Amino acid sequence: MQSIVSYKERGIGGNNLYRGNCSPRLIEDLIDFYKVKNISDYMCGSGTTKDVADRKNIKANVYDLNQGFDLLNMDVPERNEFIFWHPPYHNMIRYADNMYAASEIEKKYGICANEVDLSQCRSWEDFIKKLNACMIKQFASLETGGHMAVLMGDLKKQGKLYSMLLEIAKPGIIENIVIKVQHNCMSNKNQYANENFIRIQHEYVLLLKKAEDLIYPVQFAVNRIADIRNLESVTWKDVIADIIEKAGGKIELHNIYQQVSGYKKAEKNNHVKEKVRQTLYAYRKIFFFENGLWYLS
Ligand SMILES: C[S@@+](CC[C@H](N)C(=O)[O-])C[C@H]1O[C@@H](n2cnc3c(N)ncnc32)[C@H](O)[C@@H]1O
Repeated sequence: MQSIVSYKERGIGGNNLYRGNCSPRLIEDLIDFYKVKNISDYMCGSGTTKDVADRKNIKANVYDLNQGFDLLNMDVPERNEFIFWHPPYHNMIRYADNMYAASEIEKKYGICANEVDLSQCRSWEDFIKKLNACMIKQFASLETGGHMAVLMGDLKKQGKLYSMLLEIAKPGIIENIVIKVQHNCMSNKNQYANENFIRIQHEYVLLLKKAEDLIYPVQFAVNRIADIRNLESVTWKDVIADIIEKAGGKIELHNIYQQVSGYKKAEKNNHVKEKVRQTLYAYRKIFFFENGLWYLS
């Protein structure tokens, strides 16, 4: 196995009509690489993992919401050597009431599938929160020395990238990130009148190892809002340029003073007004003065 995998032929196992199914060949490669004897999959979908494990003559524990298992609220029954996890890609493909009837799941198992289906979270933030709860629960079920492979993808909506890889919690040792080239993806067939974006042609496999018991590192993504006027490493040129842009491209000098006062950038300087004027005159390619106003070139 190498850091880029590409399976033009899907391989045998699972059901290629189950939306979002994955290539059995990826699971074969992971089993071979890690010399896996026991594999678990708690979102097994059409059963690709079980079919591969049967062929390889190893034990598989497979579950899914479509068979009455809810990873969000139920315990992971096993102590695991290896977990393959292929969660929904946010709401790209809806599962309950699309691939199977939620009413059937409720009747048979008493689970309200539409509420716990990871493909129906209220928002991206809600999805990441639940994804991370599932991640930590599964990782904790690994025996020391155990591994987890997570297949996931990115979404692009209205010019913004929503990356599962960037935001998913990463417990333990991050051993590798494998790029998986996507073939026969439904969205690849869509034609757009104005194709001014980069098409996503890959997924990722995140490979994690639980090297220690009880106490291990977890990498979390944190989204913060920054006001550059409070950031020490930002230069005065960029603070002033942003202030002028925000003011619509022109501004009076005293308004620039007002816009910086009270912020960390100004607090650190005993001669703020002088600094502002010095910066405006030092960057003549960027700022110019006309009729009592400062402009951006
Ligand atoms: C991307 S699919 C997995 C496809 C699978 N690898 C295959 O080859 O068929 C994601 C699966 O997650 C399941 N799922 C969504 N929310 C779940 C939950 N809370 N607990 C367990 N399974 C869930 C869906 O039913 C769906 O089958």
